[in-house]
Amino acid sequence: MSSGRRLEGKIVIITGGASGIGAEAVRLFTEHGAKVVIVDVQDEAGQNVAVSIGEDKASYYHCDIRHETEVKNAVKFTVEKHGRIDVLFSNAGVVERQQYSILDLNLEEVDRVMAVNLRGAAAFVKHVARVMVESGTRGSIVCTTSVVTEIVGKAQHGYTASKHALLGLVRSAAGELGKHGIRVNGVAPFGIATPMLCDGSETETSKLEEIFSESANLKGIVLTARHVAEAALFLASDDSAYVSGQNLAVDGGFAVVKA
Ligand SMILES: NC(=O)c1ccc[n+]([C@@H]2O[C@H](COP(=O)([O-])OP(=O)(O)OC[C@H]3O[C@@H](n4cnc5c(N)ncnc54)[C@H](O)[C@@H]3O)[C@@H](O)[C@H]2O)c1
Repeated sequence: MSSGRRLEGKIVIITGGASGIGAEAVRLFTEHGAKVVIVDVQDEAGQNVAVSIGEDKASYYHCDIRHETEVKNAVKFTVEKHGRIDVLFSNAGVVERQQYSILDLNLEEVDRVMAVNLRGAAAFVKHVARVMVESGTRGSIVCTTSVVTEIVGKAQHGYTASKHALLGLVRSAAGELGKHGIRVNGVAPFGIATPMLCDGSETETSKLEEIFSESANLKGIVLTARHVAEAALFLASDDSAYVSGQNLAVDGGFAVVKA
């Protein structure tokens, strides 16, 4: 594995970069020399991430990934600002508001989750891949899937289905884009106490961390957004130059042991 700055001079888009795993990836990728465009709908949080890092390294662009025109505009903004795109970290995601039994499945909630987790990611992969193919860039696309792609019964049905569908998209896109030298992979985290799952207070965060730690396979360490960002960095960088179509589990062995 190479040492030093692993994304020197690379232009990166990170969706969901205002919070949680995405915000941590913005920090880590810029530390490694990347220039990052943060895409999100949380304007204040997104701006704050960019300002805290330095706006020469990170900028914020408002984009609701459910709308293809907004996705197209975010991609256009990045190309106009930086001239190219080397990496897409498609990471924005949502969960259902409740855990519904399949017998009472709320299909509006399933549509809402699918619109972000699958359709939004598909729109980003489409428009970024177009730019990469047209410019002959041998880029890397990384999508945040989930441990639920490897083991079921741990999350809501709509969410689980959306992440399985996303993994299908990752594999399918990796198949078509290989001839252009473009790699597509998933990163599949175990549970982390991010704002997606708790209110961010110290009490709720440590309560949730305790629950995850209890069921975790790997003991003596709590999974953080930073660990997932490190795995995404590996997939984004040339350290994984011949890795494509994979779903890298960041779950401490949870899925292989529990499946
Ligand atoms: N936290 C976990 O336990 C866990 C586990 C496995 C996978 N994941 C996945 O990790 C990814 C990041 O989640 P996180 O845990 O950091 O949560 P988070 O809520 O902190 O971050 C998700 C970000 O996505 C953004 N977003 C949501 N809908 C959007 C939309 N329509 N357009 C643009 N941005 C939108 C949110 O505003 C937020 O900033 C998600 O895809 C999630 O499914 C999380």
